[in-house]
Amino acid sequence: TVYPDQYLASKEVAQRIAELIKKKNEEGKKAILGLATGTTPIYVYKELVRMHKEDGLSFKNVVTFNLDEYYPMNPAAVQSYVTFMNENLFSKVDIDKNNIHIPDGSLPLDDIEEYCRGYEQKINEYGGIDLQILGIGRTGHIGFNEPGSAPNSGTRLVTLNDLTRRDAARDFGGKSNVPMKAITMGIGTIFKAREIILMAWSKHKASIIKKSVEEEVSADVPATFLQLCDNVEFFLDEDAASEL
Ligand code: GLP
Repeated sequence: TVYPDQYLASKEVAQRIAELIKKKNEEGKKAILGLATGTTPIYVYKELVRMHKEDGLSFKNVVTFNLDEYYPMNPAAVQSYVTFMNENLFSKVDIDKNNIHIPDGSLPLDDIEEYCRGYEQKINEYGGIDLQILGIGRTGHIGFNEPGSAPNSGTRLVTLNDLTRRDAARDFGGKSNVPMKAITMGIGTIFKAREIILMAWSKHKASIIKKSVEEEVSADVPATFLQLCDNVEFFLDEDAASEL
């Protein structure tokens, strides 16, 4: 779906999330959300915060799983996705801290494999993700599933692509400060979500959106794997859709 701008598109995504939360609440159930970071979902979170403050939308029955985190990363660092989520959403709504899950970038290397298995298992224990929101990197990554990622991959430690590290350089005061690795949910983990929404805004995403939607499915552009899903919707602004 193409929207005139990212603000209108983000409002619609926030509305979908709010409807899910309310429906689950009426059923006496938890809403299990898969969340993304980066600049793309910022207005979705802003709108959810507004709905919490002005419309009384409660996050008490919401459980969240974030897609990814840099590795190594101190959760208290300004660049961590923990800080990002706290600043943009969690500290501004009534979510129970025990219901928040973000990959831990501060664990020793030897513990990562077991930790990732546990992350995956926790998602399953909650009955899976109801709604997963995604941005897209210019390499075609979703989460941090860089080119070469397998469609059945699970949560794991990955090596970041050079372009991804260049795109992140501004946040870190130079590319050399960007971590070499990240922990990410896998393509397989993302696919298990009952509903997937991918968002992309502006001209610099137009070419990767064209590849993702129109080119052959291939691990060279991991987002093309989404063509194999029935339950996925792309929310684009006119600029991101301009090469389609
Ligand atoms: C980051 C995140 C992704 C995000 C992507 C796009 O590396 N790990 O989850 O979708 O890059 O970032 P942005 O939304 O800032 O364009």
